[in-house]
Amino acid sequence: MLDPSDFINESIQEIKNIIGDKKAIIALSGGVDSSVASVLTSTAIGDNLIAVFVDHGLLREGESDYVNKTFNDRLNLRTINAEEEFLNRLDGVSDPEEKRKIIGELFIRVFERVAEEEGAEFLVQGTIAPDWIESDGQIKSHHNIALPHGLVLEIVEPIRELYKDEVRVIGSKMGLPDEMVNRQPYPGPGLAVRVVGILTPEKISICRKANAIVEEEVKKEGLDATLWQYFAVLTDTKVTGVKGDIRDFGYLVVLRMVESIDAMTANVPELPWSMVKTISQRITAEIPEVTHVSLSVSDKPPSTIEFA
Ligand code: XMP
Repeated sequence: MLDPSDFINESIQEIKNIIGDKKAIIALSGGVDSSVASVLTSTAIGDNLIAVFVDHGLLREGESDYVNKTFNDRLNLRTINAEEEFLNRLDGVSDPEEKRKIIGELFIRVFERVAEEEGAEFLVQGTIAPDWIESDGQIKSHHNIALPHGLVLEIVEPIRELYKDEVRVIGSKMGLPDEMVNRQPYPGPGLAVRVVGILTPEKISICRKANAIVEEEVKKEGLDATLWQYFAVLTDTKVTGVKGDIRDFGYLVVLRMVESIDAMTANVPELPWSMVKTISQRITAEIPEVTHVSLSVSDKPPSTIEFA
């Protein structure tokens, strides 16, 4: 990569040349790639970039507030509350790939709606080098995307040549908080791929609460700096437990904490036992529907990082 300041200046100039005074939209996920692409583009074209943050009802605890707090005064941000639309369509669906497909389609539908309303002609994406090297290996090319209702947007990918560590350097240089640029990756379909089986408001809520406890304790331990991802999975297995003096029949939650460089492979490191026990105790104490917590010790391969 060029010197970070040169990269920023050259990218801003290039974005201005391509988009000029037209309008663009970007899907802001709250992850580091789309955040950095948003901030770079908005520095170039100001409020003509509309950053669209979709709350699909499958976000982590506090995520919508976090994204709004972080970006409200940096971006022309539109938060779209689409929880009902997503959860209605996902009702009764248990197959993970089916969930991903539905979520992908609904995302596109929401963006098309916003792009039409805003009169956008460009779609900015936070694509980074591993995304295209692994998939199509194509050298930079100008391309368009036709959305389902026929709207055609020209794609702009300002951080396409960068690797994750370089994206983080650019993000910091542009004033994004450390916590944001070092965030763990979070999958687009969110809790849909961390709740095994069909999604119900109750299961989503349990998974969200358990996940918040994992994140809190991992950060307390300072392991957020070294772990690649750390989260809770809600299985659809129910197991007998005993709470107080009463036998109970509740959910099994699995803790997944892995180290990785690029998510292609991952390994489960030795973890501080006191932290694992604290997480387990907190989850069963604070979430009445959970009777049992287990720790995943499987590397990738043969397992994947996500459960669904
Ligand atoms: P797996 O589970 O395949 O995950 O080992 C590898 C990395 O990709 C993330 N992941 C996703 N990200 N949409 C996303 O945006 C998805 O459908 C999806 N599935 C997995 C996962 O969190 C890990 O970082």
